[in-house]
Amino acid sequence: METDPLASPNLDATYAFTRTTSTRVVVGRGVEGRIAELVGALDPDGVVVIHDRNVTPLGERIAAAVGARLRLPVVGGEDLKRLQMVGHLSQALSDGGATRRTVLVGVGGGTVTDVVGLVASLHLRGLPLVLCPTTTLGMGDAALGGKSGVDHAGLKNVIGTFRQPDAVLADVDWLATLLDVHYGEGLAEYVKQAAVLDAAGFERLEELADGLRARDPEAVTEAVTLAVRTKMEVVVADEVEGDRRRWLNFGHTIGHALESAAGMSLRHGRAVAMGMLAECRAASDRTPGDVSERIDALLGRLGLATAIPSHLCDVDRLWNLAQQDKKATSSSVPMVVPSRIGAGVLVELTRERLERALA
Ligand SMILES: NC(=O)c1ccc[n+]([C@@H]2O[C@H](COP(=O)([O-])OP(=O)(O)OC[C@H]3O[C@@H](n4cnc5c(N)ncnc54)[C@H](O)[C@@H]3O)[C@@H](O)[C@H]2O)c1
Ligand SMILES: [Zn+2]
Repeated sequence: METDPLASPNLDATYAFTRTTSTRVVVGRGVEGRIAELVGALDPDGVVVIHDRNVTPLGERIAAAVGARLRLPVVGGEDLKRLQMVGHLSQALSDGGATRRTVLVGVGGGTVTDVVGLVASLHLRGLPLVLCPTTTLGMGDAALGGKSGVDHAGLKNVIGTFRQPDAVLADVDWLATLLDVHYGEGLAEYVKQAAVLDAAGFERLEELADGLRARDPEAVTEAVTLAVRTKMEVVVADEVEGDRRRWLNFGHTIGHALESAAGMSLRHGRAVAMGMLAECRAASDRTPGDVSERIDALLGRLGLATAIPSHLCDVDRLWNLAQQDKKATSSSVPMVVPSRIGAGVLVELTRERLERALA
């Protein structure tokens, strides 16, 4: 059979690209006094500060220190995470004359850093980004690892990017104004990480528990530092969420289902605390009793309840919600539980296991 020369391509080649990026993380007390130097090190052509209205005095101080050309206050909270907000902020940057070398500084909790991260990866195809987390959850979790995102069409974090920030700067004194309910939520995530990834860190959290409950600055600094180290180690090993990063989802399979079942009445960190213990019970053949007891005791000392309110213990409802998890197959949902403190094991959550967890 004759072949038509015009039907075959002249070129069929694969070009590989690699891009190296880095994140400088500076955590502790006195970080605020170094903001101008740390942001200046990025050699910016102007700085724009976007901050949560609940930390306006801090946003003003940072804007003054870095000589910001623009300061944009936003209302923090899950409602901020909308695509519309990305358009709104992009417009404000254009109006303010931002260029590709203008540094965006996001100041606030995880909702602010998630949105500012997305704006920084989309506006002009990418601007330098500095995140200044002001919640325990932001400092030890949300601001780290480069996941940005907004909620869309009823799905959480469905539109987003992987884009590592150039710097994450966290002064633990910024937590002073944080409400107890928000402060405790971040600590639940620290316990989660240590439980499956860092045995020594878990032990240290047990020693620090009273100090953390009392918000002792030294204890808080050490706990945030531990959380940053653990999370960054995982992210460096697995930037785009292959296998390892999934370890960070301990407590989140049942936790997310509880959060959805409760509507707005159960906050994420509280749901994760309950989810961790429920997942340990669900996998009681893989998680020894003394391991779940230690996790339970630590969460209790940090002021986090682990008992699931009876009105949420609806197996059918929670099973449906857990299956909606995007990684779910029809009859089981993967989850990671501790096989001992500091080590995780992948287990399939089944309806039977969930029933056991809620019994
Ligand atoms: N990107 C990631 O990898 C990642 C990881 C975990 C969570 N998240 C996201 O993080 C978000 C939750 O973050 P969050 O818990 O920080 O919530 P948040 O941003 O809603 O902050 C909690 C509340 O505290 C207020 N606040 C923030 N800092 C304050 C301070 N210093 N003083 C007084 N009030 C302050 C905020 O206005 C808000 O009302 C969720 O949307 C979640 O999806 C992202
Ligand atoms: Zn979480």
